[in-house]
Amino acid sequence: MKPRVYVTRKMPASVLSRLCERLDVDIWDVEDEPVPRNVLLKSVAGVEGVLCLLTDRIDEEFLRSAPGVRVVANTAVGYDNIDVAACTRRGVMVTNTPGVLTETTADLAFGLLLATARRIPESEQVLLNGEWKTWSPMFLAGLDVHGATLGIAGLGRIGEAVARRARGFSMRLLYWDKVRKPSVEQSLGVKYRSFDDLLRESDFITVHLPLDAETRGLFGEREFGLMRPAAVLINTARGPIVQMKALYDALVARRIWAAGLDVYDADPVPPDDPVANLDNVVALPHIGSATIATRVKMASMAAENLIAGLSGATPPNLVNGEVG
Ligand code: GLV
Repeated sequence: MKPRVYVTRKMPASVLSRLCERLDVDIWDVEDEPVPRNVLLKSVAGVEGVLCLLTDRIDEEFLRSAPGVRVVANTAVGYDNIDVAACTRRGVMVTNTPGVLTETTADLAFGLLLATARRIPESEQVLLNGEWKTWSPMFLAGLDVHGATLGIAGLGRIGEAVARRARGFSMRLLYWDKVRKPSVEQSLGVKYRSFDDLLRESDFITVHLPLDAETRGLFGEREFGLMRPAAVLINTARGPIVQMKALYDALVARRIWAAGLDVYDADPVPPDDPVANLDNVVALPHIGSATIATRVKMASMAAENLIAGLSGATPPNLVNGEVG
């Protein structure tokens, strides 16, 4: 008998048929709507595995509702939606999708940096609103990216991929991370700084950290106070790493120049979100890894992790190795 699994969102057809070859699949087959919590908890009662998204909270309550679950396969590299410690205590394997989205997310981070520095969305809006009257010297003037100092908070796979792009723009590269990366420092010419010095010295700060107890709320009033008045913050990692009220105050008071955001403290944020509506903010709806090719790869990777874990093998992208 094939192991029973629950898939929490509509998946690409190729991925779904692969899952169905090996597993007995029940699915919340709706494209743009997360499975309601009560439906999720009811649906996982008899399953051995779940293929989920970062919109699904996998916590004690979930685990109590799914006593037979052995594998939780997240379709994302980040897994802050999952209580990994609770899964580990129950011997449940947790997997993620690292690597396949690195370059795609770095493309978006760099695009957002350019869009914010050069006020690209605002400029298009000015044209569409009929407000483009003439060429004038300081009309929609932004910031130079080339030659500026980029501070990378978190030099993991994505941070490093952003550094590679920034070299093409002749940026000076600084980073801060919990651990130093001497080989990357050498190969990319990225210089290590303490967190406070990174804030003080950077023209652009781009966040590529996981959300955990140490990074939650890392950017607050004190940190914005240390940044340059012409600094730009780019966040394509996780919203709660930045205290949104402090960011709002810093942007309104022009203690920093602008922010480019793909993530927020709530996901999704409402269209009237105060930060997203500021003139000096470029706000995107969490599309860091959203290319067709990458999203298919992520779904396929999550599916292979699930299949491997349920067939008795160690899934290729096991997060809690102590369980495998
Ligand atoms: C997306 O945000 C991911 O973690 O993959």
